[in-house]
Amino acid sequence: MSDFVCHGDIMYSETVEKLKVCEDSYLVVQDGFVEGIYETLPEKFQGMELKDYGRGLIIPAFSDLHIHASQFVQRGVGMDKLLFDWLNDYTFPQEARFASMDYAKNVYDQVVTELLRQGTFHASLFTTIHYDASDYLFHALADKGMYAYVGKVNMDMNSPEYLCETTEESLKQTERFLAEHQGKGTVQPILTPRFAPTCSEPLMKGLGELAAKYHCGLQTHLVESLAEVKWTLELFPGYGSDAEIYERNGLLEHGPSIFAHYIFPSQADLDIVRKAGSVTVHCPDATTNITAGIMPAKALSEKEIPIAMGCDIGGGQHAAVYRQVARAVQLSKLKEFYEPEGNGRVTFAQAFHMATKAGGSVFDRVGSLEKGYRFNALVLDGLEDAGFTLSPEERAERFCYGGDDRNIIGRFIDGKEIVLPE
Ligand code: GUN
Ligand code: FE
Repeated sequence: MSDFVCHGDIMYSETVEKLKVCEDSYLVVQDGFVEGIYETLPEKFQGMELKDYGRGLIIPAFSDLHIHASQFVQRGVGMDKLLFDWLNDYTFPQEARFASMDYAKNVYDQVVTELLRQGTFHASLFTTIHYDASDYLFHALADKGMYAYVGKVNMDMNSPEYLCETTEESLKQTERFLAEHQGKGTVQPILTPRFAPTCSEPLMKGLGELAAKYHCGLQTHLVESLAEVKWTLELFPGYGSDAEIYERNGLLEHGPSIFAHYIFPSQADLDIVRKAGSVTVHCPDATTNITAGIMPAKALSEKEIPIAMGCDIGGGQHAAVYRQVARAVQLSKLKEFYEPEGNGRVTFAQAFHMATKAGGSVFDRVGSLEKGYRFNALVLDGLEDAGFTLSPEERAERFCYGGDDRNIIGRFIDGKEIVLPE
């Protein structure tokens, strides 16, 4: 693997609250990892290939911990509905089409290209209940060297007949998915019970046994809407909270647990997630579109609950997770305005951390540009107006608010430059 040096302005999250900025600096890449960042290039590196980006801004590639690859083609459709109607009227019929491999290949190839285009190189993805289509997405992501978790979805109750498995078949196909895909590199399988209302207790118990047998993590939706919370507790009367269903069935012990939305956590949900070291996922667009709630992100981060970011296509309407950075700040202001007690504003630095380092934490050394991290990075340009300069933080902020993929002029995974498919 070739080693090289990038010159430009460099920015990454050091902590939840703090951005590290190295202006006019040199980042040395060795064997695909960041060797170090220097104001003046040390003599021993001076013979290396130099990629000079001038005032280009070098940042970590984005991490999106909640995306339904299977909902890509319905983004921006049915957005005037709330969760259950949106699922029944649009999402379930659309997901049923993944029984066809022609349909699945067409959609999943577009998803992979779009993630690369938008600079999301680390992602946790839902597919559908269908094994073959899920297998296809797994390999499509792996072929591009992306870092990902892929979950075949489980649904054995409260689902339309055309998108419902028996408990036995759901467990059998899930075990096959784990057995066939584990240990294959940068993409890993993950257990994906859709959400508690569509998964019976015997299914949850069986998935817990698979988690132990295959040392596997979990992704699901948790406390996403008030209607969902109420229904879940009616369906699982022996449990005191949504998170307890996953805890008591052994789903939080063997890998990362990733909980999308986490808008209405009870004290028990908070305690369980903190104890298990789970990661929650803020999906501001989806929250606005279909679930009618705002994650209390500032309050949660003060309680030391880790928060990553998700575009949640197709609840969210766009794959660019950097737009969610802006939306997280905007929504936190609305939340504080309408419910000042206990809430506060999320800063740009915190939201950027969610979409980079926090999301990257469920993978191996991605999401930052500190020494020892993989050089999974983007180079941004074209964010200043003629005659007006902006600081690196301001350029990153402008990108998240109003930029698009045309501002991404360089993409690297493991130190290799990515060329987008035509
Ligand atoms: N809850 C159950 N299924 C879904 C889904 O597909 N998207 C979202 N946002 N929430 C869900
Ligand atoms: Fe979702």
